[in-house]
Amino acid sequence: MPSPQVITIDGPAASGKSSIARLVAARLGGIYVNTGNMYRAMTWAVLEKGADPADADAVRASAAEVVLESPVYEGRTQVCVNGQLLGDAELNSDPVNRAVSLVARVPEVRRRLVAEQRALAALGLLVMEGRDIGSVVFPESPAKFYIDASEEVRAARRRAQGHQDQVAERDRLDSTRTTSPLVIPDGAMVIDNSHLTLDQAVQAVLDKLPA
Ligand code: CDP
Ligand code: CDP
Repeated sequence: MPSPQVITIDGPAASGKSSIARLVAARLGGIYVNTGNMYRAMTWAVLEKGADPADADAVRASAAEVVLESPVYEGRTQVCVNGQLLGDAELNSDPVNRAVSLVARVPEVRRRLVAEQRALAALGLLVMEGRDIGSVVFPESPAKFYIDASEEVRAARRRAQGHQDQVAERDRLDSTRTTSPLVIPDGAMVIDNSHLTLDQAVQAVLDKLPA
C-alpha cells in the first residue's frame, strides 16, 4: 500500500483532535491542518460584516465575498481573511464559538472550504483534523482516525483552557446537520482518549498507522 498522503482525524469538540494532530504531524514531518479554524475564520468574517449567523441566506451572501487563504507557517496552515492573518483572539472568541456551528451547516460554505482543503494535498503529507475529513474530504485515505472522549472529560478540558464554550450544543448541531454531519467515517480507527495522556494518545495513532 502506498504511504498515506493525508492522515484524517475527526471527532467531537475538545476531544483532543488538534493537539494530537499537531504532534503527529511534527513526528512525521507533515503539515498540520486545523479545518475548524477555516470554519472559524469564515464565521469571524461573517460576524464582522454584521450578518446574522442563524440566517443561512445572509451567511451565504457575506461568505461569498470573503477571500480566504491558508499559508503554511512553521509546519501548519494559518488562516488569512481578506489579507488579515487571524490569531487565537479572533478564532476562539466567545461570539465565534457561539456562531461557528451555524455558519458551518450552510452547504455553500462547506463546498468552498472542502475544495480548499482538498487543494492542500498538493503540499505533501498532511495531518488534517475536523468533523468530515475522513467521511467527505478524503474518504479514500487509508489512515482515518476518530478521536473520542467522554462529554465530562471534554467539558473539563475546555474549561481548563479557559474558554467559554458550549461544547454540548456545538456537538448537537454538528451531529444533526443535513450536510456532512459529524460521524465515525467508514473504516476509521476509533481512539477513546478519555483516560489517556496526550503522549499516549499520539502514540496510539502512530501505532495504528498503515505501514
Ligand atoms: O476545536 P473544537 O473541536 O472545539 O472545534 P473546531 O475543530 O475548531 O471546529 C469549530 C466548528 O467548526 C465545529 O463545531 C463545526 O461546527 C465546524 N467544523 C466543521 O463543520 N467541519 C470541520 N471539518 C471542522 C469544523
Ligand atoms: O481539537 P479539540 O477541540 O478536539 O481538542 P484540543 O484543543 O486538542 O484539546 C483540548 C485540551 O485537552 C487541550 O488543552 C489538550 O492539551 C487537552 N488534552 C489532554 O489533556 N489529554 C488528552 N489526551 C488530549 C487532550
